[in-house]
Amino acid sequence: MENDIERVLVDEEVILKRLDVMAKEVRKDFPGEVLVVVVLLKGALVFASDLLRRVPRMLEIECINVASYHGGTESSGTVNFLDHKLPDVKGRKVLLLDDILDTGRTLKAVKDRLIEEGATEVKTGVLLAKDKERAEAVEADYVGFFIADEFVVGYGLDYQGRYRNLPYVGVLKAEAQ
Ligand code: IMP
Ligand code: MG
Repeated sequence: MENDIERVLVDEEVILKRLDVMAKEVRKDFPGEVLVVVVLLKGALVFASDLLRRVPRMLEIECINVASYHGGTESSGTVNFLDHKLPDVKGRKVLLLDDILDTGRTLKAVKDRLIEEGATEVKTGVLLAKDKERAEAVEADYVGFFIADEFVVGYGLDYQGRYRNLPYVGVLKAEAQ
């Protein structure tokens, strides 16, 4: 698996240090409230797990399955909700977590949906945000790292379902794609 990586973009130590800072921001922004954290599967699994263990607040974790890539390296343009039932967020403050902000379609679609479902506030957090013009006018409230517009894997992010368990974020070799 490691042989398929051309270069490491953000190493594990740097990620975890940044999460310490992001966790403090979350703690400060939601003092005393029982938050609902909505984790977008599967990409945000690793990020959420490391971030939330740094937030010593009462919170509830929910997961939503969405698909926008269908296995390739380009966004398909549509966001599909794959669950029969979404978590109950009526009257709740929500922190929505995803692995990466790219075109913005996923974060926008899920955020709008949670507001439709009655969430009183939805803040968003991503480990990575690509520095580019977005198809949807959306930015995240908490961003780990801004990166160039290239396809990355690791620390939750996949290519065709693989590489999520790499402990760092890296760029795939062209021949591995
Ligand atoms: P968006 O809807 O275009 O913002 O894309 C967000 C989703 O696409 C994320 O949840 C990721 O699953 C996936 N994605 C976008 N860029 C990358 C990447 O560079 N590597 C792996 N997955 C990505
Ligand atoms: Mg993905």
